[in-house]
Amino acid sequence: MSINPHVEKNLKCAQKKSVGCFSMRARIFNTFSAQETQKLAGDILAGLIKDSPKDKALVLALMGDLGSGKTTFTQGIAKALGILGRVASPTFVLMHRFKNQKSKIEQSNYNFLIHIDAYRLSKPEEILELGFQEIISDPKNIVVIEWPEKIKNFLPKQTHFLKFKFINETQREIKA
Ligand SMILES: Nc1ncnc2c1ncn2[C@@H]1O[C@H](COP(=O)(O)OP(=O)(O)OP(=O)(O)O)[C@@H](O)[C@H]1O
Ligand SMILES: [Mg+2]
Repeated sequence: MSINPHVEKNLKCAQKKSVGCFSMRARIFNTFSAQETQKLAGDILAGLIKDSPKDKALVLALMGDLGSGKTTFTQGIAKALGILGRVASPTFVLMHRFKNQKSKIEQSNYNFLIHIDAYRLSKPEEILELGFQEIISDPKNIVVIEWPEKIKNFLPKQTHFLKFKFINETQREIKA
């Protein structure tokens, strides 16, 4: 299976260090604590939910180095969706699935948050064994993927890319 050209362009863009590479509409945020990153995640999610087609899963690809805040951002998404349990990194199990609770976001008809960490996949195809194609086809799902580069051939066209950068101990730059 070859990579979708639209996904390829965005992925290449997100891998570059240059800021000018994202579309004119890309926004750059700086956060100064994990809490700020979580709050930002809720705000970004609300915008995406408002603007995204309702017939597909909402897919977010979180790119960036180890410790740059991808899991922390996902915890903010979970909070915004009213998920109460602890959202730990699924690095070793690859995927967690949560039932959305009392979402704080208007117009959210999504029922599930699927959190995937592709870091430890030895082969991209392994993601398919987890039912990935069904997951991204189901309009009830919000799918958040850490290390999406590992499964680039399987990312759907509607994937939204976000880029995380470690600035210092408490500061992160997030491009969305
Ligand atoms: N502004 C900030 N935004 C996000 N996290 C921050 C910030 N400042 C400090 N931190 C801390 O940085 C760490 C970020 O870790 P996190 O697990 O979210 O990174 P990650 O990108 O998911 O890493 P990995 O690639 O290993 O999964 C957390 O311990 C968090 O508390
Ligand atoms: Mg993580």
